[in-house]
Amino acid sequence: MTDTDQKNCAVKTAVLSDIHANIQALDAVLKDCREQGAERFWMLGDYIDYGGSPLETMARLESLNIEQMIAGNHDACLYLDTVRSSATPHGRKAYEFTRSVVRKNKRQFRMLETIAQKPVAYVPECRTLLVHGTPEDPYWGKFQMGEDPDDLFRVMEERDVNVMMMGHSHVSGMLMKSGRKIINPGSVGQPRDGCPAASYVILEKDTVTFRRVSYDIDAAAEAIRQAGLPEYLWKRLYQGK
Ligand SMILES: [Fe+2]
Repeated sequence: MTDTDQKNCAVKTAVLSDIHANIQALDAVLKDCREQGAERFWMLGDYIDYGGSPLETMARLESLNIEQMIAGNHDACLYLDTVRSSATPHGRKAYEFTRSVVRKNKRQFRMLETIAQKPVAYVPECRTLLVHGTPEDPYWGKFQMGEDPDDLFRVMEERDVNVMMMGHSHVSGMLMKSGRKIINPGSVGQPRDGCPAASYVILEKDTVTFRRVSYDIDAAAEAIRQAGLPEYLWKRLYQGK
């Protein structure tokens, strides 16, 4: 690793995932990022769907200087105009709402098109892989922190990856083996670990800091109600599930 690589890796980096159209949670996290002195952003996908503010969320993301931005399954589905047959009724309703506002907005749709082309990113100077799901199934592969991670560590070893950042489960956590790390920053807009506060991670050299940030859940819930979406989608924000 060169001196320049080491300098690039020492940059304080905020890693955000699964924002899910929750502008209130995103803004609270961005404020926290500023206060923590984060200098760059890596984003792990699922920017939209479920929440009531997809256009506002995309506009906010567009205003940021984001160094790495990959797609999640919800971003890809919306771009491809498809919904899984296994989608739940509330998931289908959320998709239809998001589709109705994002796909008719040319600017946001172009942004979605750009994001959707990139399911995985590699940051060579930090030997870090960014993926929403898993390396084998970047959109839909779901790894939960309690599962056996040996296959993932094997892939990391084969690809000379030191750190793998992954989202999708909405549950934060970190696993380590032989100096390698698997890190999930949790979800900004829809945490599912029983704690309703927005979740993200700050990386700085070898230090990993998990951040939880309270935000205006009432306003986020109201946006979901205003969008005409099912009660389940706003109630879960209060429960963190
Ligand atoms: Fe998600």
